[in-house]
Amino acid sequence: MTDAALSESVQNYYGEVLKSSQDLKTSACCTLDAMPGHLRPFLADLHPEVVARFYGCGSPLPPALEGRTVLDLGCGSGRDCYLLSRLVGESGRVIGVDMTQAQLDVARRHCDWHAERYGYACSNVEFLQGRIEDLASIGIADNSIDVVVSNCVINLSPDKKQVLAEVFRVLKPGGELYFSDVYADRRIPAALRQDPVLLGECLGGALYGEDFRRIMHDLGCPDVRTVKGNPITLGDPEVLAKIGMVNFRSVTVRAFKMPLEDRCEDFGQVAVYKGTLPESPHFFDLDDHHHFETGRPLRVCGNTADMLGMSRYAEHFEIWGDKSTHFGLFDCAPPNKSLSVESGAACC
Ligand SMILES: C[S@@+](CC[C@H](N)C(=O)[O-])C[C@H]1O[C@@H](n2cnc3c(N)ncnc32)[C@H](O)[C@@H]1O
Repeated sequence: MTDAALSESVQNYYGEVLKSSQDLKTSACCTLDAMPGHLRPFLADLHPEVVARFYGCGSPLPPALEGRTVLDLGCGSGRDCYLLSRLVGESGRVIGVDMTQAQLDVARRHCDWHAERYGYACSNVEFLQGRIEDLASIGIADNSIDVVVSNCVINLSPDKKQVLAEVFRVLKPGGELYFSDVYADRRIPAALRQDPVLLGECLGGALYGEDFRRIMHDLGCPDVRTVKGNPITLGDPEVLAKIGMVNFRSVTVRAFKMPLEDRCEDFGQVAVYKGTLPESPHFFDLDDHHHFETGRPLRVCGNTADMLGMSRYAEHFEIWGDKSTHFGLFDCAPPNKSLSVESGAACC
């Protein structure tokens, strides 16, 4: 099948076959990933039609978004865009991109409804129709976005490397990619990758975690951090019969647009979280093994120091030390259980 035919198959699945999340055959899209507690009350302020057509597999909504410009790749009916609309505040901006007309129709119908609900003079969300492999053609400029999010979409792209290359093009230096997606513990056989149901259910196109790591490395991002992951249950007997030999996980990862090293190096640096994120006064979790308690100094590698000190998180951290003296390889925390279900993907 050509890339265009695969895209058509995905659009048909999300535009015509699925009418609501009840129609999904597996929990791959819509895994029960607990939404952070401070965001749960906001769910009550979403339009029911937007919620009914939510097909995400995580909650890729990072902190420190006030006033920022956020881009949601494959926004669907706009659930995350409307949550983000609230998180960036009236002075921030949210752009949702999707290729499926029926999903965008739902998203666009409720712009004013949400702006009114949030008490905004006008909506801070816009929805653009386009392909996430080519954000330039819908006018997303280089270095223009603070945070790129995406919820269960990149697996559906026939050219994942191009999607991620576009992400690094549009992010500002120091900007963050924070997304949830489905990963497989092995490469999916070609015939199954083209099966319309497996593809539409976010299984057929799922990347093998190690291949994701390789793509990010090739794009100049050698250190991707896993925030959390949940196994996916394949309940449907037909789906199980076809692809039951593969283990899938829904994983949330973060990556930064900045120069990083491919291993964690020790420069004797220390990071201290100030406790200044309102929703997180007591701790900040960078990933599944970096837990910063407020006020408690933690030794960090050079990459972690840069992720915290050269991104929008800088105002919430004190970084002690610089890179003037090198002490060898950083003694890494316990290995990351990662994207590839069994083996580690981030470098520390
Ligand atoms: C599983 S749904 C997730 C939708 C949304 N993120 C959510 O959480 O409800 C996947 C969405 O990605 C869109 N999509 C898939 N591949 C795309 C591509 N290459 N370019 C643009 N949109 C794409 C589909 O149209 C669909 O709306």
